[in-house]
Parts: sequence; structure tokens; C-alpha cells
Amino acid sequence: MKETVVSGIRSTGKLHLGNYYGAVKNFIKMQDEYNCYFFIADWHSLTTHPTPENLHGNIKNVVVDYLACGLDPEKSTIYVQSDVPEIIELYLYLNMNAYLGELERATSFKDKVRSSPDNVNAGLLTYPVLMAADILIHKATKVPVGKDQEQHLEMARTFGNRFNRLYNQEYFPEPYAFSYTDKLVKVPGLDGKGKMGKSEGDANCIYLSDTPEAIRKKVSRAVTDGGPTEENQQKPEAIQNLFDLMKIVSTEDTLTHFDDLYNKMAIRYGDFKKQLAEDMVIATEPMRQRINDIANDNAYLQKVVRLGAEKARESAQRTIKEVRELIGFKSF
Ligand code: ADP
Ligand code: TRP
Repeated sequence: MKETVVSGIRSTGKLHLGNYYGAVKNFIKMQDEYNCYFFIADWHSLTTHPTPENLHGNIKNVVVDYLACGLDPEKSTIYVQSDVPEIIELYLYLNMNAYLGELERATSFKDKVRSSPDNVNAGLLTYPVLMAADILIHKATKVPVGKDQEQHLEMARTFGNRFNRLYNQEYFPEPYAFSYTDKLVKVPGLDGKGKMGKSEGDANCIYLSDTPEAIRKKVSRAVTDGGPTEENQQKPEAIQNLFDLMKIVSTEDTLTHFDDLYNKMAIRYGDFKKQLAEDMVIATEPMRQRINDIANDNAYLQKVVRLGAEKARESAQRTIKEVRELIGFKSF
């Protein structure tokens, strides 16, 4: 039997290089080896209160980007989370045994409390429980995600194991974060600090659908400094981030070339950024080409999403039926 894989991306906009190299690139490879479920996490996106108009457009963007990256509806189950109501039922059961203290300690929750103190809602608090339900509903063991999701995976294991203990059954297997690279990936952003992420703002992200002009402009405005002041010095975060991005999109020769220039204090950031931008344009070219075509093919999108919902529900219904029996729900 093939192992089961689940992963999702919140529908808060278009996919960026962080989503691609942290998650979707692994999805594409995994399709041939595993029983894969890839979804658009639209319920998760409600924590930030999108308008009804934005919500639908954002979901569509992620489906289109998934397909443009090479997700194949014949190989994987590609679906929209809100098409599978069984997930919320499992979320409710798991919530009954998720404790306030452990939810409050989640790093992602603490970050949100710090960054948006006026929007600390219960959905944010129980975000990791919904994520656990997404994974456990298909009894997945492998979850391709970026580095920032590691703690959520640990929580998913805790909730699954707690359920197993409570009902005295080895029912849910343990899910682990997965990457084909030896470490989970963290793609830095362009603002000189931290990861590339939608919540960090558009200027910080390179989207797969960005035009070459937009990519060049964003990279040219990326944060740098006055240049190295000593030979072979350690790079400050903003500069290291740009080198890390180059490591992802450029050849090894290009990276070594600029690294040597930096170490000799002969680097010109203008040239460095130009090269980085051109390599990003090349890396995103195949996706950019397909995004437009797919976005205009509504009949195809509808077919993909319908087929995905059907396959995902089949698996989810099987789990919910068994979970209900374990909990003790019986028909009269
Ligand atoms: P964002 O952080 O932009 O809101 P999501 O939270 O929806 O994106 O992330 C979806 C997937 O993409 C997750 O698996 C996450 O780990 C991965 N991901 C997002 N940003 C990055 C990044 N900068 N580096 C690596 N992986 C990332
Ligand atoms: N929490 C993930 C993120 O913010 C998205 C997500 C929701 C997810 N449910 C999931 C990822 C299940 C993997 C599996 O990036």
C-alpha cells in the first residue's frame, strides 16, 4: 500500500517562491510515489476575514497556481477544503481534547497575538486543530511543508495520539513533515528580515504569476546595506537572505562568483540583484506561461475541483464513519 500524503496552502492570495520551494515543488515529485491529497485551505484563510469577493478569487488563484506548477488531477486528489464538510466534524471532536494552554503556546498563535492584537479570535487559537483534522481525516503519514509548519505537525501528532489513547485504538498514524531535501526549506523574503510570506506584504514576495518587470522592480528594491567592510566577513541577515535566494534559483557557479566578490569586498549589489532577478524570471517562466491559460479555462477548473471533492469526500467519509463508531455514536 502506498503511504498517504496530505498538504494544503491557505487561500490568502497567489503562490510565492516560498510556497513553491517550501511545499509545492515536493508535491509535484510526490505525486508519482504516494497516495496524494493536496488542497486549498479556504477555512484557514477566514481567520483574516476576507470579503466574499476576495475569498472566491483567492481560492481560484491557488487552484490555478497548483495546476500551473504541475499538480496533476489524474495523479493526485486536488480539492478545496470547504468542499469536504467531514473535516469540520473531525475538527470538533479533536477540539474537545485540545487544551487552552497548549494552543496558547503555539508559536504561530503567539506571533499573531503580537502582530494583530485586535484580531485574536478563537479560529486563530484552534488553527492547529483544524490543520490536524485536515491531515488525520485521510490518515496521512507524510506532510510536505516548509520549516515554519514543523510545530503544527507536532501538534497534529499530539492530537492524533491523544484520540488513540482515549479510545484505546491505534487508529490515527503519526504524520511527519516531509521534504526531499535533507532539511525543511525556509525561503527568505526581500525585506531584509525573516521568511517570504504573504502577510509580510507584496513587496517582500515574488509571486509565480509576477511579470518579469515586477520581479526586476521588487528585487532592485530589496533591502541591502553599504557593502562589506572587511574581507571574508560574516554577512548581515539582509545580505545572507539574498544569497540564500540565489542559492535556490541560480546555478552553483553564479552563487560562487558573487560569494567570491563579496568576500573580496568587490561586489556591486546592482549587478548581484540584476543576476538574481534574471534567474528568478527564468525559474518562474514555465509557471507564468501556464497560469494565464489555465485561469481562462473555467470548465477545466470546475472539472478538477469537482473530481477532487468527490475523491476527498470518499476518503473523509470512511474516516468519519469509523471515528463516530469509536466515539460511541450509534444508530437507533
Ligand atoms: P504564507 O506564509 O505566505 O501565508 P502559507 O502559510 O499558506 O503561506 O504556507 C503554505 C505552505 O508554504 C506551507 O507549507 C509553508 O510551510 C510553505 N511556506 C510559506 N512560506 C514559506 C517560506 N518562506 N519558506 C518555505 N516554505 C514556506
Ligand atoms: N497551516 C498551513 C500554513 O499556514 C496550511 C495548512 C492548513 C496545511 N492545513 C494543512 C498544511 C494541512 C499541511 C497540511 O502554511
